Amino acid sequence: MKAFTVLAAALHIAASSAAVPGFDISHYQGTVNFAAAYSSGARFVIIKATEGSTYTDPKFSDNYVGATNAGLIRGGYHFARPDGASGSAQAQFFHSHGGGWSADGRTLPGMLDIEYGPTSTCYGLSTTAMVNWITDFVNEYHSLTGRYPLIYTTNDWWRTCTGNTSKFSTTCPLVLARYASSVGTIPGGWPYQTIWQSSDSYTYGGDSDTFNGDLAGLKRLASG
Ligand SMILES: *[C@@H]1O[C@H](CO)[C@@H](O)[C@H](O)[C@H]1NC(C)=O
Repeated sequence: MKAFTVLAAALHIAASSAAVPGFDISHYQGTVNFAAAYSSGARFVIIKATEGSTYTDPKFSDNYVGATNAGLIRGGYHFARPDGASGSAQAQFFHSHGGGWSADGRTLPGMLDIEYGPTSTCYGLSTTAMVNWITDFVNEYHSLTGRYPLIYTTNDWWRTCTGNTSKFSTTCPLVLARYASSVGTIPGGWPYQTIWQSSDSYTYGGDSDTFNGDLAGLKRLASG
């Protein structure tokens, strides 16, 4: 009985500290050595596909094929421009330019990268308008794919630009950026982060990401 309790405690520690390394990239990284990333332990990569309603990343297809050939679980991301077209229009654009999802066990749901605007932090939107824009995006993505997208953000941006809404905490898995030794405060009512972007550098290019669970959990996220 006692041995069992100790073992259970040890297993619990192992389970709660499980993590799978990965990374995210865009065309800025040029040519990426996906096979070397896989050999070093990475098991997933999130690849920039689109921005706004007209921009497509010129390296998306090369990156997606390279990641697939290396055996990585992979998915696309969309850089939100809430100062541009509607959320649903941007979700449609993303979906038709790499952001789709299929139940093949190695495609992550698309990720909505929503963060500091190039010209103003909240793109000139009120918190209510921002929440409405995000709602429009995630609902359209869900109706196109059957999955809710991942939402990438920071604690500060989410508090400032959405008023810390918890509206998406039970539907959209959280990808939280914080370049520090711990993930810090989780905003928006999410119980935990699904992926932590812990650094804006990575040995093989891009940013370093950590899936908050084991490889089986990552596969479940991909499989829906
Ligand atoms: C935002 O929500 C989180 C819960 O997810 C809470 O811990 C935090 O205190 C909130 N921040 C503010 C500024 O209200």
